[in-house]
Amino acid sequence: MQNDIQEVLYSQEAIQQKVQELGAAISRDYDGRNPLVICVLKGAFIFMADLSKNITIPIELDFMAVSSYGNSTRSSGEVKIIKDLDAFVEGRDVLIVEDIIDSGLTLSYLIDVLERRNALSVNVVALFDKPGRRTVDLNADYTGFTIPDAFVVGYGLDYAEKYRNLPYVGVLKPEVYSS
Ligand code: PRP
Ligand code: MN
Ligand code: MG
Repeated sequence: MQNDIQEVLYSQEAIQQKVQELGAAISRDYDGRNPLVICVLKGAFIFMADLSKNITIPIELDFMAVSSYGNSTRSSGEVKIIKDLDAFVEGRDVLIVEDIIDSGLTLSYLIDVLERRNALSVNVVALFDKPGRRTVDLNADYTGFTIPDAFVVGYGLDYAEKYRNLPYVGVLKPEVYSS
């Protein structure tokens, strides 16, 4: 698995430092509000686990599975709900946890769904952001790292469902996805 990585972009240590900062900012901003924190499966599962440990106020956690990519490196433009929330969002402060924003299609779809369910507020924390690939006008309220347009994997991010379990984020060797 490690042999398929061209370069490590963000080490475990760099990610943990950033996750601590994001957790502190969220704890400050949501103090007294009991937000519903939503993990967007599968990609955000590791970020959600680490981020939640760095949030020091009471929160509720829920999980939603959506997919737009299938096994391709490019978005199909179509977002599907594979698993819906258990919680009701009406009147709740909702914080969406994403691993990465690329085209923005997944998040714009999710924000729309949650707003139509009458959430009190909908905000987004994304560990990685690729603003150069945006097709819809959308930005996270909390962003970890702004990254170049390289195909990155690890820390939840996959290529064809692999590499999610790498503890760091790296760039995949082109021969892995062009062969
Ligand atoms: C990836 C990633 C984000 C989304 C970002 O998920 O985890 O959710 O794509 O791309 P976008 O901004 O262009 O929508 P994917 O659909 O691959 O599902 P996964 O989380 O299960 O890997
Ligand atoms: Mn995802
Ligand atoms: Mg994916």
